[in-house]
This record gives sequence, C-alpha cells and structure tokens, in this order.
Amino acid sequence: MKSKQLQDATRFITDRLSQTPEIGLILGSGLGELANEIESPINIKYEEIPGFPVSTVEGHAGQLVIGDLQGVSVIAMQGRFHYYEGYGLEAVTFPVRVMKALGVERLIVTNAAGGVNPDFEPGNLMLITDHINNTGQNPLIGPNDSEQGVRFPDMSTAYDRQLQRLAKQVANTIDLDLKEGVYVWNTGPCYETPAEINMLQAMGGDAVGMSTVPEVIVARHAGIEVLGISCISNMAAGILDQPLNHQEVIETTEKVRGDFLNFVKAILGKLA
Ligand code: HPA
Repeated sequence: MKSKQLQDATRFITDRLSQTPEIGLILGSGLGELANEIESPINIKYEEIPGFPVSTVEGHAGQLVIGDLQGVSVIAMQGRFHYYEGYGLEAVTFPVRVMKALGVERLIVTNAAGGVNPDFEPGNLMLITDHINNTGQNPLIGPNDSEQGVRFPDMSTAYDRQLQRLAKQVANTIDLDLKEGVYVWNTGPCYETPAEINMLQAMGGDAVGMSTVPEVIVARHAGIEVLGISCISNMAAGILDQPLNHQEVIETTEKVRGDFLNFVKAILGKLA
C-alpha cells in the first residue's frame, strides 16, 4: 500500500497530465532555468500539491514543470528541498517517490558543488561517478515499505554506467571538457573548514555539496536509474585563499548555465 500522502500527490499531478513523464530532472541552485525551455509546460507549484513540502531558499523557484524537452517527456523540479532547511529526509525525497509513482524510470540530478579535487576549476561540469554520504543520515531509516523497494538496497552502481557512458559521448560530441568524480554529501548549511576539505580529499571526494545524495538513495531504492551532474561553482574551503559565499555559487552557475543547458539537452536528445 502506498502511503495516502503519496497517493494524493500522485493523483493531483496525474489529473493534470496527458502523458506519462519518462525522465525526472532535479535542477539545483542556479540551474533551474532549464525548466523554462520545456515545451507545452504544465507548471504545478509545490504548495499546490498535497503532501509536498514548500521550498524556502533564495534562488530556488519551487515548482514542477512537466512537458517535452528534446522530444522526451520530462518532469522537472525547479528548486529542490534541502535537509539544511529543516525538512526531514522523507520530505526531501518525497518528490522522487512521486516521480516513481508517475512512471519515471530515469532521473537526472544536478547540483552546484564545491571543487574538492584541486585539478578542477569553478565553472567545470562534473559527471558524478559515485558518492560518499558523509552525514550519518539516510532517508531509508525507518520501517521499509517493500512495495517501494528492498530493505537493503545495493548501491554499487548508484549512478548508472550506461547513462555515464552516454553523457561522456555527448560531452565529446559538443566539445565539453567534462570532469568526473565522487560527490560528497555534507548537511550544511555552513561551508566546510579547510581541515574538513583535506579529509574529504583523503577520503576520495572530488566535489562537495549539500544535496542530491538523499534523492539518489531513494531513486535507487525505487529502481530508478540515475545520472548525476555537478556544476563546480567554487573551489572548496582552503583550496584558494578566499572566503566562500552563496553569491559566488549563484554567479558561477549562471556563467556556465549555457554549457549546462546544452549538455543536458543533448543528453535528453540521445534518450529520445
Ligand atoms: N561546499 C558545500 N556545498 C557547496 C559548496 C561547497 O563548497 N559549493 C556549493 N555547494
């Protein structure tokens, strides 16, 4: 039995749709613009959907945009929910459960992240090859609903290998210098200390951010294939001798927005 909340949200959205979305898009800070390119869009504000949390962070719009992009039927989250905002992880990941219930089979997750790998530069795009959950939190803690997924989900290929291969081929075709690496999830909201970044480097992290991992865990639990892309918005603390701020994160993502949009659209074109 699906939870009543999930049923209500799914029904509310389905009633407004004429087709089943195939691909989910979660658009991170400064990357929500992609949803404005969706054709014949149906926009549903989060606050209208029963059971949906409401986004509070500046720079996050807060709506679902459903329609066609590059010939694919997509459902995009323009703005996501973060654990640091005070939502429980069930709320943070609820939209992924809804996407699954709507019929989504693949998910493209994006975020802005700090570059931990010293070879990166602000403005790089990074294919997420794997992640490290550095928080001690997990959205699957609690009773398992076996209709949604198994108690102990495999995470050995959290980021689908075939989708990674496709993303790399597309990057090649459009001459994009796509980096690759491991995304580390920290809760935030403060940025890391230089000592913490040293630790993340030693752990094998390449980028660090405050999102994505909960959604990916739930997507994998639900059997959704995942592709992850980080926009390296800044070098992580201590790598350059300068303080970090959210304005820089937004400004950098705005600068590479064009590259990012072209990249994701070209990937979608290949999935059509
Ligand atoms: N650390 C954590 N989260 C982030 C960063 C960072 O440096 N940049 C963007 N999101």
